[in-house]
Amino acid sequence: MTGKLDFISQELASLREQGLYVEIRVVDSPQGAWITVDGRKVLNLCSNDYLGFANHDVLKRRAQKAIETLGVGPAAVRTIAGTLSLHRELEIKMARFKGVEAALSFQSGFCANLAALGALAGPEDAIFSDELNHASIIDGARLSRAKVVRYAHGDPDDLRRKLRQESAARRRLVVTDGVFSMDGDIAPLPQICEAAAEVEALVMVDDAHGEGVLGRAGRGIVDHFGLHGKVDLEVGTFSKAFGVVGGIVAGSRPVVDYVQQKGRPFLFSSAVPTADVAACIAAVEILEKSGDRVDRLWANTRRFKEGMRSLGFDLGKSETPIIPVIIGDARLCGAFSRKLFEEGIFAVPIGYPAVPRDKARIRVMISASHSDQDLDFALEVFGRLGRELAVLL
Ligand SMILES: Cc1ncc(COP(=O)(O)O)c(C=O)c1O
Repeated sequence: MTGKLDFISQELASLREQGLYVEIRVVDSPQGAWITVDGRKVLNLCSNDYLGFANHDVLKRRAQKAIETLGVGPAAVRTIAGTLSLHRELEIKMARFKGVEAALSFQSGFCANLAALGALAGPEDAIFSDELNHASIIDGARLSRAKVVRYAHGDPDDLRRKLRQESAARRRLVVTDGVFSMDGDIAPLPQICEAAAEVEALVMVDDAHGEGVLGRAGRGIVDHFGLHGKVDLEVGTFSKAFGVVGGIVAGSRPVVDYVQQKGRPFLFSSAVPTADVAACIAAVEILEKSGDRVDRLWANTRRFKEGMRSLGFDLGKSETPIIPVIIGDARLCGAFSRKLFEEGIFAVPIGYPAVPRDKARIRVMISASHSDQDLDFALEVFGRLGRELAVLL
């Protein structure tokens, strides 16, 4: 007799069989260049802590102080029980940092995307979404009930064609990741804005991997391309370069106000706690004073990429500190990652459905907290294992 949960065990077995079952390792130390994973000290090449803020003394002190003065929790949804001044302070500082009129904070970047897309588009509208956009954009677009039109990755000409085909839509909204999280390439935002402007479509960019990384002192992709005033809404996260947790939308005051009135994750879910908000404020203040950490991040990125390319690795289209080391076969990729771990390097394999089936990869994330010696150690191990596993010929 078949049981009602058989489909679960079958699917789990099939994932294991294909090398796609995700194993989660346990971290038992603060974030940093070296962390303790499953009881072992390893070089951390997979966190999104681009600037080394996740265990930064100033951020920790500010978080502790916020708990002492304001307690730990917001106690309800902001629209119902009032909002803490701390959340407003973060929003004002982020708006200034990004050079826009207003910003609104969320529980996560995922929530910010759901809120923004759900608010800006409805069943009579069309959302134009890059085919490699993040899952939170895909889900936000689905929840909005708008018609979703996928355009070819990073292709403004395909976007332009598709925008024209949907002239009957009440509103057209183009949405793209700023930096693509699996390949590390940057969206051609100037050309996307041009295509959108031709039909007066709205433009929204998810800058999760651009904030703290691109632009002056990490002001993000809009600053990187000098597109101030051309993008209607920027979405971001505090969980990556800012080292904490939370999301943000930023843009003109009416657009942000609109998302505040209509965004369901804002209206129906409580805000990020005080400690996290205070730590985010500290991170923005540090970046406003100095871009040194961002410069270090890019110097590290160049050093590692040059080393890997001269070893002969395929790094795909990466233009940022997200560096896919393309292995191809998911099982070989899993074996490579396990060997790396045995040699003291934590870098996880990524396979289907996050990336195409034949493009399994080890995704290396570079941080400002890595030293030259750390990177040289990683290069030596990658080179040796690459030859041993015949990834390098
Ligand atoms: C492009 C992109 N958008 C949004 C998110 C979600 O951010 P958060 O972790 O703050 O929910 C991520 C995180 O993986 C991301 O890579």
